[in-house]
Amino acid sequence: MTETGKGRGALQEKPLSVMTLADMKRMGEKITCLTAYDASFSTLVDRGGVDIILVGDSLGMVIQGHDSTLPVTMEKMVYHTCCVVRGRQRAFVIADLPFMSYPEPNRAAVNAARLLREGQAQMVKLEGGRIRAETVRHLVTQGIPVCGHLGLLPQSVHQTGGYRVQGKDQRAAETMLEDARILQDAGAALLVLECVPAALAKKITESLAIPTIGIGAGIHCDVQVLVLYDMLGITPGKRPKFSKNFMAETGDAFSAVRAFVDAVREGRFPTEDQSF
Ligand code: KIV
Repeated sequence: MTETGKGRGALQEKPLSVMTLADMKRMGEKITCLTAYDASFSTLVDRGGVDIILVGDSLGMVIQGHDSTLPVTMEKMVYHTCCVVRGRQRAFVIADLPFMSYPEPNRAAVNAARLLREGQAQMVKLEGGRIRAETVRHLVTQGIPVCGHLGLLPQSVHQTGGYRVQGKDQRAAETMLEDARILQDAGAALLVLECVPAALAKKITESLAIPTIGIGAGIHCDVQVLVLYDMLGITPGKRPKFSKNFMAETGDAFSAVRAFVDAVREGRFPTEDQSF
């Protein structure tokens, strides 16, 4: 039961807000998130009971066929966010600020406002630690909810030299924990942890009041997110270790989404095999 006396069933019927998500963390309820990029999949994911839809700049890879997220533009993010928002009724929608759309606070505010005004997203996500604190504070001051993103940062792939697990040594782990606290203090309301050792993600999750969204970050994150096409088994090439093809055992896309939702809520996904 929530503090307002409403159980999970009641929460599920109403459109989710940033307050509901914070409430779910406080109550220890597992939260589900999938990416979507168009209205049809948005409706399917929403009806399947997913709590958050992320319009990720992963669309650069899975929709546009690029080998990174870097070519994704603001125009494309606005277009796909509009499509997703039209398809959903209940899920909370987060849209990614693409590469170089937030080099400083004022530019970030202009672009984030486009995602909220034209795209009708409810929150924007940006990558990076303490160097983003001023930007996060500025956006939040303008009334724009922000989700941070630590660990593997796909927009910095050329700087990090590839898609690798982050925060493995003690110094990097301490820096990530500090960055997480700094982003929360700056006003971030959610925080993605991508490809982070499960023990570190647990420590960060326990030390923050805001929900953490894990992808390759172990079972202890408050939210679990997967790229939709990975969990449907339709991404070409090798599936990441942390993902799971839910369609292989269910046979259709809607049942795969339901199976993901059930597995996360019941603490059956991710397993140790899908963690670092
Ligand atoms: O773009 C995306 O899909 C993401 C998730 C992998 C978290 O940022």
